[in-house]
Amino acid sequence: MAWLMGLHIAALVVWCAGLLYLPGLYSVQTHLRQHTEFHRIRVMSRVAFVGIASPAAVIAIISGSALVYTLDASGGWLAAKLTVVAFMAIFHAYCGHMLARLGHESQQRRRYRVEPWLVIPPVLMISLVLWLVLAKPVLFLDTWSAP
Ligand code: HEM
Repeated sequence: MAWLMGLHIAALVVWCAGLLYLPGLYSVQTHLRQHTEFHRIRVMSRVAFVGIASPAAVIAIISGSALVYTLDASGGWLAAKLTVVAFMAIFHAYCGHMLARLGHESQQRRRYRVEPWLVIPPVLMISLVLWLVLAKPVLFLDTWSAP
């Protein structure tokens, strides 16, 4: 199932890039003075969230679920990974919420401010997922399921 793993990795790279890029893109909007620049960044934010990061998230989750089935994957690392992935999905939804608060590019500028430090949660979550999936550490969850 090399193609499935390839699809999973391609999708998660795009999704993770989106989670890192979106908070930064939102936060610069507060400092833009020129209307054309402001309009361009708004359109970029919407395209990045709706057209790129969201489809990639769906593909990453569907292909990951298919990998669990085809590889018969199990273990504490998988449970821990899925927990962190759930938080990534929550953060993704929060990015959608921030985008809605920022408003459509045709609307007047709103006073909604996105803090640049919001790039830190995805950095921590992505690092943790990569460590869990690549190191597959034996966790306390494994000792619970042992006969
Ligand atoms: C519901 C979501 C997901 C599920 C069910 C899932 C499940 C899986 C499974 C079963 C594998 C094969 C592991 C193995 O036996 O080697 C895998 C591989 C992988 N996953 Fe996911 N995954 C999900 C989301 C993610 C996300 C969000 C990331 C990154 C942030 C990620 C990173 C990886 C990587 C890097 C591999 C390759 C590991 C290797 O080659 O050893 N996955 N995933």
